Amino acid sequence: MKTKNDLVKEAWQLLDRSVVHYGDRLVGTVAACDPSVEALNYDQCFVRDFVSSALVFLMNGKADIVRNFLIETLTLQGSEKQMDYFYAGRGLMPASFKVVTAEGRHYLVADFGEHAIGRVTPVDSCLWWIILLRAYVKSTGDMDLAHQPEFQQGIIWILKLCLSDRFDMYPTLLVPDGAFMIDRRMGVDGHPLEIQVLFYAALQSARELLLPGGDRDIHIQIVNQRLSILNYHMRQYYWLDLNRLNKIYRYKGEEFGEAAINKFNVYPDSIPEWVFHWMPDQGGYLAGNLGPARLDFRFFALGNLMAVVCSLTNAEESQQLMDLIEYRWDDLVGKMPMKICYPAVADQEWKYMTGCDPKNTPWSYHNGGNWPVLLWLLAAAAQKTGRPEIARRAIAIAEERLSQDEWPEYYDGPKGRLIGKASRKYQTWTIAGYLLANEILENPASINIFSFDEDPEMFDWMYRLQEF
Ligand code: GLC
Repeated sequence: MKTKNDLVKEAWQLLDRSVVHYGDRLVGTVAACDPSVEALNYDQCFVRDFVSSALVFLMNGKADIVRNFLIETLTLQGSEKQMDYFYAGRGLMPASFKVVTAEGRHYLVADFGEHAIGRVTPVDSCLWWIILLRAYVKSTGDMDLAHQPEFQQGIIWILKLCLSDRFDMYPTLLVPDGAFMIDRRMGVDGHPLEIQVLFYAALQSARELLLPGGDRDIHIQIVNQRLSILNYHMRQYYWLDLNRLNKIYRYKGEEFGEAAINKFNVYPDSIPEWVFHWMPDQGGYLAGNLGPARLDFRFFALGNLMAVVCSLTNAEESQQLMDLIEYRWDDLVGKMPMKICYPAVADQEWKYMTGCDPKNTPWSYHNGGNWPVLLWLLAAAAQKTGRPEIARRAIAIAEERLSQDEWPEYYDGPKGRLIGKASRKYQTWTIAGYLLANEILENPASINIFSFDEDPEMFDWMYRLQEF
């Protein structure tokens, strides 16, 4: 077996090979460099995928690529039609872009989902973009970039898109199915966890980046209010542990009026069987989704891990989440860290939920597959909670196979033992995720560029409201 040094060296070579050139500048990384299959759109630079590479670059003195990426994507913001001449919101960031060469000139062509399967909208791109801008600033100290008028405008456009008045009754963001890493129909429409957590991290980033003055002050105030209420909502209604499960189990339905305890009218009969034995005595996690008569009990890794990283869960809950991961190690980490979502949906439920998606069959791809990219988020959450041994264990498992299997995009099976049925090889965020996880373990302070500490003032607003 290769040594860690060999693996890290190999991963760096592969990461360097994936870099996208735009004229004489480096502007991103392609999703995958798998020579054995047709590239499809994997030759593009996906915003969400690039985050893993970008953080590795920032930690290794290659901030220029990240800077170029931020500048170029900003010029693409809201620039293209979404579908059939319908224009999407001004703040929308593309899912991906690629460099096209025509008549000796290079162009960047953005994809807002108009080329994606199912025409899914990339809601997460604009949220990741702000999070990455803040990481760049924290890592380089180059606040001037974020303070440039175009950048301030770009942030405001994103805020307007996310914070504008709609029909909403909750502080969470309402999105269509497949609006983030899970970019196919998977019953993740409504108020999916991943989007809420990225929204929370993006709002925290925005308030650090917005230059006070002018009408930006109003935006800063709105951001602060939304952060408190969102925080309250997520901790109050998304958090699940045995105690809360017991409360839901004894809920009455059809409660009327403001004093209702079962605010969302979740019927106890809707609790899936598996939760009763899967929920440990110690430990908990944030639910996958919440809406009227709908609580999605599935465990989604990215949203939960990122919630720890950006202190959306409090210190105690964050510890409980890591307890759960340890307790359910076989299910959530298994033979390859880590399960994107647990458990898989099957049979009739699979038919209704995915529309009979042959790629998202039980324990494959988004429907319960294992994604090595999630290793860095696991490492970050482990580091943040002072439990680096969890990261060390997970990295050791990944090291047994990643290089030998040629750095796959994902693995299949309840324990992640098989290379994904339609998995790409040499997937860039798998490679970058491995490097990043090691970096986080070696240098605990490195997480500060993308993590957030708990802000005690965050609750003032909520408490004031409650007293009122
Ligand atoms: C797939 C994944 C998506 C990823 C893209 C590029 O579409 O579902 O999350 O961004 O591939 O790797």
